[in-house]
Amino acid sequence: MKTSLFLVALMSAGVVLAGPPAPKKEGIESQGYTWNAQEGEKTEALKLKGDTANGEEAYEVCGACHLPSGAGRPDGTFPQLAGQHTTVLIKQMADIRAGLRDNPTMYPFAITLVDPQELADVSAYIASLCIPADHGKYEGSDSAARVAQGKTLYEKQCLECHGKNGEGDRKKFYPVIAGQHYKYLLRQMTEIRDGHRRNANLDMVRVIKTYTDDMLVAISAYQASLKMPGAMCAKKK
Ligand code: HEC
Ligand code: HEC
Repeated sequence: MKTSLFLVALMSAGVVLAGPPAPKKEGIESQGYTWNAQEGEKTEALKLKGDTANGEEAYEVCGACHLPSGAGRPDGTFPQLAGQHTTVLIKQMADIRAGLRDNPTMYPFAITLVDPQELADVSAYIASLCIPADHGKYEGSDSAARVAQGKTLYEKQCLECHGKNGEGDRKKFYPVIAGQHYKYLLRQMTEIRDGHRRNANLDMVRVIKTYTDDMLVAISAYQASLKMPGAMCAKKK
């Protein structure tokens, strides 16, 4: 806990923590890019059984941004991690560490995980967290209409991979998108559409490429209206 408070203090003081920039690897725009190539520390971490006690310790630095509960922030700056598939957590962490998903904010902390075992540990710990009852939703006055429009779009082109209830697919590395913060979803979808999230899935890029900003708003509103599958935390009284 001390460490996270210290980090928050550092960050709010605007101190830039030292750390080498992530190495630039080829991504989405390069020809011959293979999504989710089974190689490197990711493949190793996926085979290991995570130790939640060590994972809890390793997670301490993460809690400064993603919160100790794994809830992230409703304003979408930091995604909710609780409830996400362990395979997805491991892939995303490994991609960030390898410079295949740009995340300069998190990079110096991502590299505090020492080896594939610790990647497995921290994901096992996150998987042990209950799913927060509340998260950031679309808040416009036209919310009902947006969600309905988003549902139609979602069922046409997204359900096939992310599932009827937004549950994703653990084995296929398809993220849970239900119950994630609206603003985080909107940012990811925009970055994926515009080719800025370099570890994106090309089949998804093909689908989303033609979407307008307006459609992305609706579809994000819908996803955030869904309930994340799994064990929910008890509502605060
Ligand atoms: C300084 C803040 C910060 C810290 C500390 C931090 N992260 Fe993050 N993390 C972020 C941000 C910001 C994003 C989303 C970036 C984006 O919008 O693409 C993110 C994204 C992620 C994702 C991807 C989630 C998804 O749905 O794709 C995972 C997994 C993750 N972080 C795990 C961790 C773990 C584990 C740690 C500790 C070792 C950690 N983070 C520490 C800021 C942080
Ligand atoms: C062919 C399967 C496929 C289709 C179709 C697809 N996606 Fe995805 N989506 C993925 C995969 C795989 C990822 C994770 C990519 C990665 O590894 O970084 C992803 C990532 C995302 C993310 C980011 C999640 C996060 O936690 O960062 C969102 C949001 C999302 N998809 C929404 C959608 C929506 C909405 C549609 C329909 C317009 C859609 N996807 C269509 C496979 C698909």
